[in-house]
Amino acid sequence: MHEEYLLSIKDVCKSFSGVKVLKNVCLNIKAGTVHSLMGENGAGKSTLMKCLFGIYKQDSGEFFLEGEAFNFTDPKHALEHGVSMVHQELNQVTKRTISDNIWLGRYPTKGPFVDEKKMYNDTMALFQRLNIHLDPRTRLDKLSVSQRQMVEIAKAVSYDAKVIVLDEPTSSLTAHEVEMLFDIMKVLKNEGVGIVYISHKMEEIFEVSDEVTVLRDGFYIGTEDIKNLTMEKIVNMMVGRELEDRFPPKENKPGDVHMTVKNLSTRYAPEIQDVNFELRRGEILGVAGLVGAGRTEMVEALFGARTLRTGEIFIDGKKIDNSSPHKAINNRFALLTEERRETGIYPVADITFNSTISNIKSYKNKAGFLIDRKMKDDTDEQIRAMRIKTPNRREKIRALSGGNQQKVIIGRWLLTDPDILLLDEPTRGIDVGAKYEIYQLIINLAKRGKSIIVVSSEMPELLGITNRIMVMSNGRVSGIVNTDETTQTEIFNLSAKYLNNTREAEV
Ligand SMILES: Nc1ncnc2c1ncn2[C@@H]1O[C@H](COP(=O)(O)OP(=O)(O)OP(=O)(O)O)[C@@H](O)[C@H]1O
Ligand SMILES: [Mg+2]
Repeated sequence: MHEEYLLSIKDVCKSFSGVKVLKNVCLNIKAGTVHSLMGENGAGKSTLMKCLFGIYKQDSGEFFLEGEAFNFTDPKHALEHGVSMVHQELNQVTKRTISDNIWLGRYPTKGPFVDEKKMYNDTMALFQRLNIHLDPRTRLDKLSVSQRQMVEIAKAVSYDAKVIVLDEPTSSLTAHEVEMLFDIMKVLKNEGVGIVYISHKMEEIFEVSDEVTVLRDGFYIGTEDIKNLTMEKIVNMMVGRELEDRFPPKENKPGDVHMTVKNLSTRYAPEIQDVNFELRRGEILGVAGLVGAGRTEMVEALFGARTLRTGEIFIDGKKIDNSSPHKAINNRFALLTEERRETGIYPVADITFNSTISNIKSYKNKAGFLIDRKMKDDTDEQIRAMRIKTPNRREKIRALSGGNQQKVIIGRWLLTDPDILLLDEPTRGIDVGAKYEIYQLIINLAKRGKSIIVVSSEMPELLGITNRIMVMSNGRVSGIVNTDETTQTEIFNLSAKYLNNTREAEV
């Protein structure tokens, strides 16, 4: 029957309140391979995997593991039968230790007691195997998001599963950790594990995949050997048409100096030192650099979210006080943070609330009542402009796919109508098609005279939409270049300018 495949998914259908999101989807995974599952935001990737893992019950369709039909009733059941999964959203008990989190629900016991020593030793052994350098006794809330993600990956591996699903595992990992993960995946492949890999990062897909399956709008589109694929082919399968260009034309025209930043230094580690630059009105300024270069800290410092040691900010030549985020917002700054999914979402509230909450003041009339009509109109406009995939604005944000949640949060900051917009990794987790729409929104804002800073780790994105690029290295500015005149090599070299030999310890 299906013995040639380790895992076989046949004709799975799934609806949420009458809306069909999976329509006869099939997927076949061979042992010892990495199979990438691709598709636009909302295509149904996570839902399919959640049906497999027993989180959702499919309406119809079958699953086979090594030829045997099965149907997991819950995640515990799936784990016991050799299927494990790293979720797109982290779901951890942050007040507990690393080893507590890994062995949660299956603590080793000694008589009636939890065998703490065994738990510690097992965690150490697991970490050694995966080359992770963390103390198992550390509480999760002491870790960075990327370290927590690595713990989650280690946990998935610890079940000695036959099939491991990784749903956007690298979205918050540092470059070094991504390499570690890829090494782990190679080891697992050699052991015969089948890996389902979900990511919107094309470079990764070509680096790790053996095969690729594409979903579009809940339909199965096709499966191909990676050797027969190009990026254009994949994009075409994903969006169902040729994608004209990856970037809209840069139609914004930078004008006079809008903001001047002088001697910006932060007091606490990770420090930034003596950052000086000018931002022109209507300009899109990119910020490049390696992880740990201080890019996020720099925009946080501008936004009043970090304590300054020195530094002055001028708007149109006038000094302003941005010593708290509240003051920064009053000075018409907005910051889209890197970890928006962690910090930015009100999960049980609907899209309208999540879109308008940061700007709620502007929706009140003189008597202090909310103007419902305007909130609805603005939300609909965001849904349209960013092609947010949802039945309507009353849907709870929790019910949106991961990438569509991101779009709502981006829309929220755009609706505050800021003068200076600070965007930290604005397209993380967003599919290739929707990226174009977000680039277009950014360029349109710049055309309207808004000045924008874009921190990004994606070089094509920086080269594609910015006017100038400021490169940071080890907390300092190592150069500012005109985008049209620079090269990737020049930016890489500037990124390494102030690196000393002591490489920052990651994980
Ligand atoms: N619990 C739910 N209730 C209602 N609708 C849901 C629920 N979960 C998912 N959906 C809908 O199902 C569709 C598929 O979502 P899914 O999360 O599978 O997409 P995805 O391919 O993983 O996208 P992304 O790349 O953004 O993570 C979306 O339209 C989403 O809004
Ligand atoms: Mg998803």
